[in-house]
Amino acid sequence: MSFDFTALEEEARQKIAQAQDAALLEALRIQYLGRKGLLAEITAIIPTLPLEARPEYGKNANLLKNKLNQLLEARARQIKEDATALFEQFDFTLPGAIPQAGTAHPIAQTVKEISDIFTKLGFVIAEGPEVETEFNNFTGLNIPLDHPARDAFDTFYIKSPSHQVTRSPEKEKNRFLLRSHTSPVQIRVMKKHKPPLAVIVPGKVYRPDAVDASHSFMFHQIEGFLVDEDVKFSDLKGILSVLAKKLFSRNIKMRFRPHFFPFTEPSAEVDISCILCKSHQVTKSQGHQEKRCSVCGGKGWLEIMGCGMIHPNVFANVGYPKGAYTGFAFGMGVDRIAMLKYGINDIRLFYENDLRFLRQF
Ligand code: PHE
Repeated sequence: MSFDFTALEEEARQKIAQAQDAALLEALRIQYLGRKGLLAEITAIIPTLPLEARPEYGKNANLLKNKLNQLLEARARQIKEDATALFEQFDFTLPGAIPQAGTAHPIAQTVKEISDIFTKLGFVIAEGPEVETEFNNFTGLNIPLDHPARDAFDTFYIKSPSHQVTRSPEKEKNRFLLRSHTSPVQIRVMKKHKPPLAVIVPGKVYRPDAVDASHSFMFHQIEGFLVDEDVKFSDLKGILSVLAKKLFSRNIKMRFRPHFFPFTEPSAEVDISCILCKSHQVTKSQGHQEKRCSVCGGKGWLEIMGCGMIHPNVFANVGYPKGAYTGFAFGMGVDRIAMLKYGINDIRLFYENDLRFLRQF
């Protein structure tokens, strides 16, 4: 075996010149001068050479070794100098490239804010599926078969519209729809857990409403319910007034208007005093002179949720013993609350993904 020293040197010269950084150069050094490298191979065969050839061969090997060392050192110096030059050219006072960080959507922020208020009051958060059984959305909640909300035009059914199919509560457990409110999660949670319960349920709900500035086919609700022995309507009022004060302001006023929901009795709708005008403080005769408020239309009150004491039939439907528990429930529209909080006048803005809008939150 013999080596062409000139060719080897030439090849090494090219490879070393091409090494772009210290790590690549180190790899070459090992390849040439390392313990199992090229030079080790070259010297290993000396004992096999004829005696007279050895001095010349040894000298050439030595020259190659020195040459390689020289080339490696020179290239190392060069790489270092290049890096320093780059470092010196670089203007460290330039502003950095700012990453495009997003922010939470205003609806998500509102959900979080409301959830935080309730979790501090001891409520836990539960969630349920958006595709719900007809039973949980209606029957379990004491919503009768002939209730208009069950109509195919009021609800998105997944398969055939319920009014065309023979009805029975059993079948309704296998018929699906997009939930029209978050109340079915009451049924899900109460079936699984015994009181005491204090739960809130944020989530999306669906109704086939024509989309306009205040309607969307999908919007957000937060359901809440508290069940125990001896829960009273005054407990409901207390909890909701804490919410209104924390969410809007300490001076906010609240009123409960009698209303009807099949799953609560008694039921009420909750209004807060208008956050823009003070019309609710104005007597009727003064009211005529007032300019119409753009938020409440001069009424002085804004409806923000429905609520009531959970109907005994609902407790029966989840298998609670008769008369053992009482509880309250409420359901609020998150989109509407976010619109009031941030002064947004069109619900569609939430769903258009327009960054000019979203960047403001
Ligand atoms: N589920 C009702 C709705 O969507 C709101 C509600 C919830 C009312 C709980 C009373 C109790 O309109």
